[in-house]
Amino acid sequence: MITVIGSINMDVVVDTDIFPRQGETVQGKSFTTIPGGKGANQAVAVARLGSPIRMIGAVGNDSFGKELYDHLANEKIDVSGIVKMNNSTGIANILLHNQDNRIIFVPGANFDLNVEIIDANIQLIRESKIVILQMEIPVPTIEHILSICEKHSIPVLLNPAPAANFRKEWMDKITYLTPNETECEVIFGEDWETVLKQYPNKIIVTLGDEGAAYINGTEIIRVPSFKTTAVDTTGAGDTFNGAFAHAIYSGKTSDDAVKFANIAASLSVEKFGAQGGMPTEEEVYARLGGH
Ligand code: RIB
Repeated sequence: MITVIGSINMDVVVDTDIFPRQGETVQGKSFTTIPGGKGANQAVAVARLGSPIRMIGAVGNDSFGKELYDHLANEKIDVSGIVKMNNSTGIANILLHNQDNRIIFVPGANFDLNVEIIDANIQLIRESKIVILQMEIPVPTIEHILSICEKHSIPVLLNPAPAANFRKEWMDKITYLTPNETECEVIFGEDWETVLKQYPNKIIVTLGDEGAAYINGTEIIRVPSFKTTAVDTTGAGDTFNGAFAHAIYSGKTSDDAVKFANIAASLSVEKFGAQGGMPTEEEVYARLGGH
């Protein structure tokens, strides 16, 4: 079983050709509410690829909360670790512009996911072969989960997004860290190539449409992305993380897991919404086979 512990959001998406300047009103193209949240996205990515997946997280006591809970259950995710809090469900305000995005995340119930809830679900964590974390839940909760996983020798994949609250002293407790270029710089204050050399076999840097890079042994390995036409890049990083965990869980080497995740992420941008383009395993192999 893979366990994702993280955020569950409703994405409130506006597509626009023009970004408003301060004080200006412009006309947008479309408005959609669609399931998201880095934790939920990564759980859906794993579920589509076919590994057993469970989620621990929190939704609010509103209509978004019910909709997202039902949606995750329909995606064949074990939702027994999702709690309903007396709060609003987390949302992400997403502005789409020129195949790129800008996101404002409002945590709501995600920030109610405290250490007591984690302790109440400790058995679910102990049953996991790998735990996936991101940074849209409270920092003390992340630290508590890292300690539990260290105590029980459970591998942790941590996707440090958003990166601002990441603490470098966690590195000893993390098996795989998957920042993008910017997050790498925010956390370590150095360019990603310098950082990779300090953490061989541990950090995989995602580079957007340039693919991904890591050090296996002593040299930097760059895995180029599969070139495709992007409709919506939201959730590409989440697809990479879910697919990487699925591949490791399925027994692939780290090298093969990065290649697999890279293809999955490139497929994910071909459809609208964070979860809309997340592929099945057959779809990933079909594209891999063509290359
Ligand atoms: O990584 C994409 C996700 O970030 C969106 O789905 C949004 O909810 C934000 O959390």
